[in-house]
Amino acid sequence: MAPSVIESVGDLRAAVAAWRAEGLTIALVPTMGALHEGHMALVRAARAHGGRTVVSLFVNPTQFAPDEDFALYPRNADDDLAKLADAGVEAAFMPPTDAIYPPGFATTVRVEGVTAGLESASRPHFFDGVATVVTKLLLQCLPDIALFGEKDYQQLVTVRRLVADLDIPCRIEAVPTVRAADGLALSSRNAYLSDEERRISLQLFEVLSRMAAALSQGAPSADAIAQGIATLEAAGFARIDYLAVCDAETLAPVERVSAPARVLVAAWLGETRLIDNVAVSPAG
Ligand code: PAJ
Repeated sequence: MAPSVIESVGDLRAAVAAWRAEGLTIALVPTMGALHEGHMALVRAARAHGGRTVVSLFVNPTQFAPDEDFALYPRNADDDLAKLADAGVEAAFMPPTDAIYPPGFATTVRVEGVTAGLESASRPHFFDGVATVVTKLLLQCLPDIALFGEKDYQQLVTVRRLVADLDIPCRIEAVPTVRAADGLALSSRNAYLSDEERRISLQLFEVLSRMAAALSQGAPSADAIAQGIATLEAAGFARIDYLAVCDAETLAPVERVSAPARVLVAAWLGETRLIDNVAVSPAG
């Protein structure tokens, strides 16, 4: 059955209240649409909780800088709704922009600490936009569970922080990154890659995996990073915004892995910026 399309906060609250009165659990999957198998893994994990699943589809203008791809960001509501129908999702929340940002809107949610560096170094506006819209979506829907992908690892850590700091009564569940057969993490932006760039792009996951193996054996982060950068540059990545080894919870840089860590990368192939990350467990 097709999901019901909900466009206003009032209608969303009414639907959720009715389900809650029946004693059902509510799971929310926030997305910007253009759904692929990565998003659908979140949807399936949400559905696995039983109860009712709400998927939000909203291309959030405040997380794009003026020179970024907001206008070009892929939008295909019909395809998205067909995928959600196949997956058995009950509700698609598709608010118009002024339902989220009505005239006079003047509040920004800013998370400090875990948002410093990495994505923020090249996209300083990004996490204010994400934190503000995610806070709003959580308060509008008040789900029991909200699901986020490890693909956007700094975003996941940021959302966990804001939910804890603002006492939002919602459990955040992380879903592992879904990859193409050759290892490239699925992303709506992969559609921008030429055939040649797509061939080179698989190096990203290869480099991260090799680094994770060396780091878990105790290699110094600086050596692993230097080698990783050299490999990516030789493969044809024009610009590397960051390649970093960070604590898995605080995202503070680590010199040598002795607790759960993460290797994170953002790099450009032509006009396309790709991000990815993998887990590193200390040996032992
Ligand atoms: P979007 O890029 O549409 O991603 C929605 C969710 O899908 C995020 O939690 C993201 O981490 C997850 N996701 C994307 N690709 C994935 C993959 N290959 N494997 C697993 N999960 C994947 O992230 C956003 O939208 C926005 O910033 C949002 C949180 C909706 C706020 O506007």
